[in-house]
Amino acid sequence: MARVFSGMQPTGVLHIGNYLGALKHFIPYQEKDECFFCVVDLHALTIPGDPEVLRRKSIELAALYIAAGVDPNKATLFLQSNNSAHAEAAWLMQCVAKFGELGRMTQFKDKGQDSESVTTGLFTYPVLMAVDILLYKTDEVPVGEDQKQHLELARDLAERFNRQYKEIFTIPEPRIPDTGARIMGLDNPEKKMSKSASTPANYVTLLEDEKSILKKFKRAVTDSDTEIRFDPEQKAGISNLLSIMSVVTGRSIPILVKEYQGKGYGHLKVDTAEAVIETLRPIQQRYHQLMQSGEIEDILAQGAVKAREATHETLGKMKDAMGLVSF
Ligand code: TYM
Repeated sequence: MARVFSGMQPTGVLHIGNYLGALKHFIPYQEKDECFFCVVDLHALTIPGDPEVLRRKSIELAALYIAAGVDPNKATLFLQSNNSAHAEAAWLMQCVAKFGELGRMTQFKDKGQDSESVTTGLFTYPVLMAVDILLYKTDEVPVGEDQKQHLELARDLAERFNRQYKEIFTIPEPRIPDTGARIMGLDNPEKKMSKSASTPANYVTLLEDEKSILKKFKRAVTDSDTEIRFDPEQKAGISNLLSIMSVVTGRSIPILVKEYQGKGYGHLKVDTAEAVIETLRPIQQRYHQLMQSGEIEDILAQGAVKAREATHETLGKMKDAMGLVSF
């Protein structure tokens, strides 16, 4: 039985990129492995926002995890801030991580251009992510492609800690899906679909209504050619539609390419929209039921207890190995 950990930020809106690149792939693990799925609310603080909104989004994200198939009887679902081991271990690991290696994180370089306005939390964010994973002695981390560099840092920090202090941490393996690991923006297929995009035409949210989904796919930017071919370099828009269609239907890209050959882009757009609508419909229904039932709070309270139990010993060992005395 492997240990599996993954997390998602309760900022902005969960979009189909988050679902197809990550969340959907969490579900099968819970049948055979010991899973911890986390709403990483501490990470959300790195870009300051309205506290009321964060409170609401954290609960909504937990409900979306369950609506998408996470079963709280099989996996532990919790809020990161409810297990103080994360914040504590992050400090300890910040004293192992090097300034230079954090400065090379591309996500920081993209978001943190203006050093006078970005928080230091945004800079040290990947260290917190590393301990999220390491504290649970995680073997496998299902994530989308944009988290690959952060996973490499987590592995480096684990190895360094093990060498420098004591062999405590398991070296985690990223699990990045072959298809759907980088869903691109519908308005600009050269850039990944993102919660922080400047226009909602970029993404489809998990809670979006059917009419709007259809409209966004119909308007998805493609190219002026007519050939259906999977070629992310030359035909980013069409390749993105094929990837989305492939992950939601479970059919392979070569089969889809054959099927849509000579049919024109319009067909592919509408069929992809419909396949996405079918996938999201049951998730949306479950989400609304859950939000009305008020069950989420209890589930998160139980998850917090299990998360704290799971990390208590590792945090203690970490402190001890570093020379901290505990009374
Ligand atoms: P976040 O909240 O930005 O994204 C959640 C998950 O969605 C994936 N993802 C995508 N996959 C495909 N196409 C896209 N366009 C797309 N956009 C996002 C992400 O790769 C991610 O798997 N730092 C993490 C949260 C985190 C975490 C962790 C993850 C904190 N601690 C420990 C794993 C383990 C983040 O900001 O993800």
